[in-house]
Amino acid sequence: MALDEYTSNRDLIGRDDVNDLEAILAITNTDVDEVIHTVKDNADAIFTWDYEKGARPALNKLYEKAKHAQWNGETDLPWDTEVDLMKNAELSRLQFQELRQDVSGTPFEKFTDDDWDRFSIETDNWTLSQFMHGEQGALLCTAKIVETVPWIDAKYYAATQVMDEARHVEVFAKYLDEKHEGHYPINAHLKMLLDDIINDSRWDMTYLGMQIMVEGLALAAFGFMQQMTPDPLLKQLLRYVMADEARHVAFGVLSLKEYYGELTGPEIRERQEFAFEAAIRMRDRFMQQEVWDRMGIRPKDVLPLILQDEGRAMFQQMLFSKIVPNCRKLGLLDAGDGWLRERFTEMGVIAFEHWEDTGEEYEKLQVVEQAS
Ligand SMILES: [Fe+2]
Ligand SMILES: [Fe+2]
Repeated sequence: MALDEYTSNRDLIGRDDVNDLEAILAITNTDVDEVIHTVKDNADAIFTWDYEKGARPALNKLYEKAKHAQWNGETDLPWDTEVDLMKNAELSRLQFQELRQDVSGTPFEKFTDDDWDRFSIETDNWTLSQFMHGEQGALLCTAKIVETVPWIDAKYYAATQVMDEARHVEVFAKYLDEKHEGHYPINAHLKMLLDDIINDSRWDMTYLGMQIMVEGLALAAFGFMQQMTPDPLLKQLLRYVMADEARHVAFGVLSLKEYYGELTGPEIRERQEFAFEAAIRMRDRFMQQEVWDRMGIRPKDVLPLILQDEGRAMFQQMLFSKIVPNCRKLGLLDAGDGWLRERFTEMGVIAFEHWEDTGEEYEKLQVVEQAS
């Protein structure tokens, strides 16, 4: 197949140049006051009459682990901890450190130290808010997988993940409510991605979008915040969530590894394109346009500066450190003519391809004592 027969960037992500800032910023969340958001999930609910438990031993093992790994967000976390939001915002502060070095002639010229402090706390709030919204996306996606996946071992496992995700939404919502002042609405790019994942009728696309891409990125992002935060409550909350997320990503890797073996070249190509689209949506989200708006700065005045910031670029690339090895393990990097490898190379994230994949990482991250 020649390159021009492939789907164009415009078809995949709505613009020719992936770095077209105006096109990125033109996507905004216009329904910030809506309470209910409806998406068509276009899927058949599938019964299976094959109840043989353990026909897929790796999924069965994951299911047995998950049954023992349940925790209670209300009682297992130290909610009475006094949280110092300023101290907590260290990671957000570090991300923008270079930007602060030379502010003459930039929109930050008039920023006082107080403004920077407020900006760091807002960035934290925004980040946690997007985690919370993403967790709800995971809750819905995984409930959908329970219905649509044809394998009994996968239905069993997905049912445990649904419970995990309910707990994750619950603890992020509680943290934002009790320790921060309110939360941000969902970012427009994240919303678009979650809508696309839910909207797709094919059961394996739910896995690819959620378990591999969204949760792969979340696992890396939670890891950074978990290491950096001095807040014992948030540290423990993230540690518990990460233990679950590592299993969820493993669920995606193990399920798709089997299923992709049955797909044709053009079908795999569609999966590569979907992975690329998801990667771009997630990268667009990092521009946190809603925070700039709230700080009274026009995003388009500041984003060119942020895009030049090498430290920040490196931080963002690190967020792909789980996704790329998992795509490699699934054979998505090099299928066909290596189209996805090329895209990940352009995004500056291909260097992670030989990092550890997440098929087994959950063994290391478990936090709840195993009974057996
Ligand atoms: Fe989650
Ligand atoms: Fe998850």
